[in-house]
Amino acid sequence: MISHKELFLLNNAQTSTSPNFLEIERAEGLYLYDKEGKSYMDLVSGFAVSNIGHRHPRVLDAIMGQLDKYLHLTVYGEFVQSPMVLFAQKLISVLPEELNNVYFVNSGTEATEGALKLAKRYTGRTGIVACYNSYHGSTHGALSVMGNEDYKQKYRPLLPDVSFMHFGLEEDLELITTSTACVIVETVQGEAGIRVPSAAYMQKLRAKCTETGTLLILDEIQAAFGRTGKLFAFENYGIVPDILLLAKALGGGMPIGAFVANREVMGVLKENPILGHITTFGGHPISSVAGLASLNVIIDENLVEPVNEKGRLFRELLVHPLIREVRGAGLMMCIQLDSFEQVEKVSKLCAADGVVIDWFLHCETALRVAPPLIITEEEIRIACKVILKALDAIN
Ligand SMILES: Cc1ncc(COP(=O)(O)O)c(C=O)c1O
Repeated sequence: MISHKELFLLNNAQTSTSPNFLEIERAEGLYLYDKEGKSYMDLVSGFAVSNIGHRHPRVLDAIMGQLDKYLHLTVYGEFVQSPMVLFAQKLISVLPEELNNVYFVNSGTEATEGALKLAKRYTGRTGIVACYNSYHGSTHGALSVMGNEDYKQKYRPLLPDVSFMHFGLEEDLELITTSTACVIVETVQGEAGIRVPSAAYMQKLRAKCTETGTLLILDEIQAAFGRTGKLFAFENYGIVPDILLLAKALGGGMPIGAFVANREVMGVLKENPILGHITTFGGHPISSVAGLASLNVIIDENLVEPVNEKGRLFRELLVHPLIREVRGAGLMMCIQLDSFEQVEKVSKLCAADGVVIDWFLHCETALRVAPPLIITEEEIRIACKVILKALDAIN
């Protein structure tokens, strides 16, 4: 009989020539289980999605409850659907008062698209400033603001009037002018290999945007919901964006994204012409109830407060001659090695020993460490032992 691995290679479009190939049958909390019942600690969280762990009972209950009511009813923005009404209300209650209007979409890249459109529409300007080594999604608009030419060159023409600055470099803020509609920046750069900016830089960036009437879009698709030690990463810097991008952990394991702005800004999408941005499935009822349950879990179970301490424990334990640096904020971390060859070997050895670890789109020489926030001290010690053993093996 043809195996699922063969079918996967044959029938499912591939994104690379070297997929991971783990065949997971079940997931629970921090752990993934394969067909043979072998368990794996998930140190990647499905790429910053499973902040509360896999299949949290309160998320499952919320989904079950909604299954008895309705699935899809109509396009976004027409019927009053309580799942997305209550989810938006909760999100707004934990955000600064300026961010009081939520547009739900289906994914991160759609949140990026919506935000870029909103900024152009609201300001009447066309200029966009983004950062080198950024990642905001894979659709054409998001690709246009991606700071890596290798991924873009084959897809041109892309959006015009986009310029790039070096993340964290104050001199480059000069690129932001009164012709700039928006600056789009990851609060902590993820795919660049976890680059944490200084508070001084972020405050100057905010000030420059305010001074020029430019909207500041902070992409927290990877960094929000406790990952950096605060519910939202911008809280680390004492600033508030004009538009906030959310996805990944937003849905507690279900697909959903959002761009959040002030009601007055968001209002431009509804007239002249109407339907300035539309989506069929945005804020799907199942995703919305799952997302609301997940946010409640993060708050009720106090998952954010211990994040920095857990991150510190990782750093304390991850000491090895091959490790150049352990970078990051909270549980959004990376282990910097010297080569992709080392990264690949360590990842394979870790997987064989029951720990899933990965690398980054724009930084293949560093290992990604971003476990669910529920990881315990004991589990951190076990995970680090496995990583150190793998590093010993290739040394
Ligand atoms: C910072 C950031 N923005 C946007 C995206 C795109 O999200 P999605 O894959 O849901 O389109 C990602 C995905 O990795 C991301 O890390």
